[in-house]
Amino acid sequence: MKVLQSPQSLTLDSKSPGQTRRIGARLGRLLQAGDVVLLSGELGSGKTCLVQGIAQGLGVSDPVTSKSFVLLGEYQGRLTLYHGDLYRLEDPAAVEELALSEYCAEGALVVEWAERAWEVFPAEHLLVRLDITGARERGLTFEARGERYRELLAAFARRGRG
Ligand SMILES: Nc1ncnc2c1ncn2[C@@H]1O[C@H](COP(=O)(O)OP(=O)(O)OP(=O)(O)O)[C@@H](O)[C@H]1O
Ligand SMILES: [Mg+2]
Repeated sequence: MKVLQSPQSLTLDSKSPGQTRRIGARLGRLLQAGDVVLLSGELGSGKTCLVQGIAQGLGVSDPVTSKSFVLLGEYQGRLTLYHGDLYRLEDPAAVEELALSEYCAEGALVVEWAERAWEVFPAEHLLVRLDITGARERGLTFEARGERYRELLAAFARRGRG
């Protein structure tokens, strides 16, 4: 089930890891250079699973793994996918020094545990909140921050219908 609450916000229910990956792939196909996607949700909510789908949608063939011990993974696809995971991050300044969004401008940046360092990311981004709603159910809420991401979300919602 899909509910488009407003041009800024969309909630999808996923009933399996495969469905979460398909949702990610649908998003990945729409991403453009410079896009920033921030993921927020508790342990096991499906962030990495969603990133695996995004990678598939970007045409990445290497397997995307959980990056909890690494700040940034890099994968070649139609665009470069930069997969960040800030779970282990203790000091947001450490991430600031990486200048992630500038460094990743020619690719797509997707970051798990973005709440560890909200302030280092551009104000304009797509936020995805993942909630555990059952053993195999997850709620995915997409929030568009800025014009580019409203367009992206609108295209994403249209594609879901067809
Ligand atoms: N509908 C679903 N969507 C995604 N994952 C699901 C779903 N139902 C069950 N799962 C399970 O939940 C787990 C999600 O793991 P995943 O590594 O993607 O979470 P995560 O949010 O990245 O966790 P972490 O914070 O540790 O990085 C997997 O074991 C997966 O099989
Ligand atoms: Mg993860």
